[in-house]
Amino acid sequence: MDNTSSILSSRPALQAVIDQIAEVTGYLWQKGWAERNGGNITVNITEFADAALASLPALVPAIPIGKVLPYLQGQFFYVKGTGKRMRDLARHPMRNGSIIRICPDCASYEIIADEPVLPTSELPSHLALQNYLLQTGSCYKATLHTHPIELVAMSHNPRFLKEGELTRVLWSMIPETLAFAPLGIGIVPYNLPGSVELADATLEQIKKHDVVLWEKHGTVAVGQDIMDAFDQTDVLCKAANIYMCARNMGFEPEGMTPEAMRQIQQVFRLPAERPC
Ligand code: 13P
Ligand code: ZN
Repeated sequence: MDNTSSILSSRPALQAVIDQIAEVTGYLWQKGWAERNGGNITVNITEFADAALASLPALVPAIPIGKVLPYLQGQFFYVKGTGKRMRDLARHPMRNGSIIRICPDCASYEIIADEPVLPTSELPSHLALQNYLLQTGSCYKATLHTHPIELVAMSHNPRFLKEGELTRVLWSMIPETLAFAPLGIGIVPYNLPGSVELADATLEQIKKHDVVLWEKHGTVAVGQDIMDAFDQTDVLCKAANIYMCARNMGFEPEGMTPEAMRQIQQVFRLPAERPC
């Protein structure tokens, strides 16, 4: 872990957020979801931007986002660096990511700390979601894109790309999936990584779902913090793993009945939208 960042050493609360990011990126590597530079993270850290941090000079000239995102004006984010490895970030978060500030035009950003590490290529998707979270007054602060093996594998079957089908199958594997991912998983048809089209399609799906699955690529989750976004992905991936274990044993799993699932929805009063 980095202990060298003066930005963090004088701000223990921000240090705790970065420590949690580092912890989660270690899990992503251990799970096999983060080959090479696979996956990326953005966390809104504006609440920690005191006057000294806010007035840090830009390390490089402003860089366009590719979209105008009005609710992001003046916001600060920790962002994984493009081409950087999650397993390296786990040990050196400030060398494999950076802090960015959104410019007054809401269409570009500046890198202000610690090093001029260029943000992830999926920044349009991350920031489109962050813009939506602020627009809706959400308490969610983190966005996570990763490459969970079982869910990506399932996205190669056209059956699971049909509206609602993957959610139904995953919910039916184990009661906890329904309880902890009550909005289910949305599908985004294949699109070019890093594209604005991918960002726009992701935004539409995250409005209605806990997690979004990019066909033949990976997932995107939002969370109150990065651990929460990780858990959302993990819960759904566990259900996908159970499905695949059953298939590997040679049978299509029966799944919980619709009645059993309705009972869980009622008894646990599962929400039909995000809690905040
Ligand atoms: P970055 O290294 O640019 O974050 O890209 C990784 C990735 O998963 C792209 O979809
Ligand atoms: Zn990816």
